[in-house]
Amino acid sequence: MSYDMERPRCDQTAAWAALHALFDAGARDFDLRDAFAADPGRFASFSQQAPHVFADLSKNLIDAPTQALLLELARECRVEQHRDAMFAAEAVNSTEQRAAMHFLLRNPASAPASARSSAIKNIANDWPEVLATRHGMLAYAEAVRADSGITDVVNIGIGGSDLGPQMAVGALDGFAMRSKRFHFVSNVDGHALARVLRGLRPQSTLFVVASKTFSTVETLTNARSARQWFEAEGGAGLAQHFVAITTNVTAAHAFGIQTCFGFHDWVGGRYSMWSAIGLPVAIAIGSQGFRAMLDGAHAMDAHFCNAPLEQNLPVRLGLLDVWYRNFHGFGSRCIAPYHSALQRLPAYLQQLEMESNGKRVDQRGRPLPFATSPVLWGEPGTNGQHAYFQMLHQGTDVVPVEFIAVRKAAHTMAGHHELLLANALAQAQALMVGRADAGGHRDFPGNRPSTFLVLDELTPESLGALVALQEHRVFVSGSLWGLNSFDQWGVELGKVLATDLGRRLASGDTSGLDGSTAGLLAIMRSGHLP
Ligand code: F6P
Repeated sequence: MSYDMERPRCDQTAAWAALHALFDAGARDFDLRDAFAADPGRFASFSQQAPHVFADLSKNLIDAPTQALLLELARECRVEQHRDAMFAAEAVNSTEQRAAMHFLLRNPASAPASARSSAIKNIANDWPEVLATRHGMLAYAEAVRADSGITDVVNIGIGGSDLGPQMAVGALDGFAMRSKRFHFVSNVDGHALARVLRGLRPQSTLFVVASKTFSTVETLTNARSARQWFEAEGGAGLAQHFVAITTNVTAAHAFGIQTCFGFHDWVGGRYSMWSAIGLPVAIAIGSQGFRAMLDGAHAMDAHFCNAPLEQNLPVRLGLLDVWYRNFHGFGSRCIAPYHSALQRLPAYLQQLEMESNGKRVDQRGRPLPFATSPVLWGEPGTNGQHAYFQMLHQGTDVVPVEFIAVRKAAHTMAGHHELLLANALAQAQALMVGRADAGGHRDFPGNRPSTFLVLDELTPESLGALVALQEHRVFVSGSLWGLNSFDQWGVELGKVLATDLGRRLASGDTSGLDGSTAGLLAIMRSGHLP
């Protein structure tokens, strides 16, 4: 096997020990206000331009020596070699013996595969099919766009088969065709599907059943109910109203869906919005827009592959994430997009990071003696300011905040965007500078870190770049932690137990169950609360 499972893990490096020494010798007490006072060039030296994304990292608890040691850590952990292994289609997903080639989905059609990887057999083999599927899916999207009889598109999928398209359709609303509505049903809770179906007519609805495995119980349950509704409401021509996106085309056919777009098993669910899973996005913004989103992501891939570590934005962000989690001990990161169209971005990033790096053993199965993925959470600004920002400013825990602002508005309403941007800047400023002169309850400790990302405009390109940036920063922290960021064994146990409990709910059998589960199950079956 050529893939290097022996890469040093962060805690086995000299840089790790040196970072601990640095932290204990005073870095723990780093003060942002002093740092800005001492260094007029701090904003310039701690900011980074990457394709479509400018990042101000200067309000983070790092200085030049810390940054240098963190970069040394990346070198010692061979992050670049690991990155190159991923881009060379090696089996970086070692527990499933698969490559992670989502980057290939955004290669432009004109480039057979990047120069770096063109010699690689896997890529060369799969590239024609990737292109053909992209072409077919986009042609289908255009046909749906041109079909004025279809007014509603319902995506049925969950996790990566829901969050990516849902997030992107919302984010790119300004580019979306106005004559169709888009709905996303993920939860097995029938209330969600019932609510969407209430306003629909079978003849004007297209159901997109999105499931990598075509075995996810939520998705299949919803798809079956949608099919039942379609038939019960007098829908005709099921084949024209159901399309499947899956790696398991056989199962989709068995379900009765004839039009299928596939993708490869080397696309992880949470990395799949670039594949045919992006169909709702392509219908919403058109094939040209979809290609632009891929181009934006591809530009970020090139930056990640080619920029030196010290100017490599995904690397700088991933290193900061490790510094905060393992040295400062910060347990969460708040995502604060100051753009209402980015409403679902925090949920999308939650899956991306927590499913990728929420692991307690390294890729060789050894228990880890340090913390991994933080909790990611958030809401668009300014809403969050009137909910939980109190805690961010004056609570007992320090939570690094990631602001995402968009310089130009896509509307012309006077005053709104200036106010929005002023608020984003003000929150980041307040977190850092604090206030010590008001006394007691009115004091703000300040020195609370934040990263400030700026897009010029929210476009398909910039969204693609922003999401690819986040994918790669998760790769970097996962790589330093020695994880396999591409599996998700932690979701399995609940699925198995739910199947067992489903049977027990029907039969009433509580034998062998723990007391709490047995007690709750009895209540669920009894028809009344105790
Ligand atoms: O929750 C686990 C998971 O496997 C995710 O990784 C995935 O995105 C989701 O379920 C949906 O899976 P599928 O696309 O196979 O239905």
